[in-house]
Amino acid sequence: MTFVEDTSIGAIEVDSDFAGALFDGLSAPEKSIPSRFLYDAAGSTLFEKITELPEYYPARIETEILRKYASDIALDTPPGAVLIEFGSGSSLKTELLLAKMRDLYAYVPIDISDAALRGARARIEERFLDLRVLPLRGDFAQPIPMLPEIADRPRLGLFPGSTIGNLENAASIKLLANMARMLGANGRLVIGADLKKDEHRLIAAYDDAAGVTAAFNLNLLKRANRELGADFDVSQFDHLAEYDGGCDRIEIYLVSQAEQTVEVLGRSFHFDAGERVHTEHSHKYDIEGFQALAARAGWRPVQVWTDQDRLFSVHVLETV
Ligand code: TRP
Repeated sequence: MTFVEDTSIGAIEVDSDFAGALFDGLSAPEKSIPSRFLYDAAGSTLFEKITELPEYYPARIETEILRKYASDIALDTPPGAVLIEFGSGSSLKTELLLAKMRDLYAYVPIDISDAALRGARARIEERFLDLRVLPLRGDFAQPIPMLPEIADRPRLGLFPGSTIGNLENAASIKLLANMARMLGANGRLVIGADLKKDEHRLIAAYDDAAGVTAAFNLNLLKRANRELGADFDVSQFDHLAEYDGGCDRIEIYLVSQAEQTVEVLGRSFHFDAGERVHTEHSHKYDIEGFQALAARAGWRPVQVWTDQDRLFSVHVLETV
């Protein structure tokens, strides 16, 4: 939903979802901005760059695993099935599966970015001439109405990128349960889960030497300036990635370098020097722990693959 607000920068079109989330997040005693706002057009482009960084092993290793086992996944998928991808982004990893799945009825990419859906659809339709692509624009964390056209078909879900780890445990169980409902009886899910490992390796993946991840995180503030006419001085904030060994997760923050006040749509927000704004969590798992989490949402493990260094895992789950 959008509305037009008359502010000192003139009449601008404002995304009320982003504005509301920003107001709530910056008014709380522990400031935060929900991570779904990282992925506007600029953020999506930066995220693509993250996946190409030498330090960001998850994308590379998951691709390697999917390439190696795509035929196995295809063999276990009944003809006429539908592949549904949650948070499809550029759909690059998907092509590895599609290349082996010749009898699919349709591919349904779900994403919040229209631009990403349009780009992915054009590329996939060009490469797989017989495949129906039925994009759904939306937040995959919300229940999505099933397309009547695919309601009676066997369904395979794909949720790569360890995006599940970006949710709190309760929310990830809820999402996995939603997916079980969407994918139906005998539904299967191929899902990536990043594994626990040496802390330095983890931090490097979220704080790369070239500063791409920092730019991705700081883009949240630039987006507020662009879309809401906020006056963040982006040079006065730092990117920070920390590992919390107790919670098994990477925590990502924007840190105010100095005491400062920022205006967003006529409201002032005060930042102390060193004050943090939380922007993302990325949980890390071991295989049994991840399977136990999935079991709480109605999934039983069918298969799990890892790379030889056990950096990343790809699970196949089935509804019980
Ligand atoms: N799903 C990705 C992950 O947790 C998202 C991600 C990668 C990310 N790098 C980031 C999110 C940096 C915020 C900031 O690995």
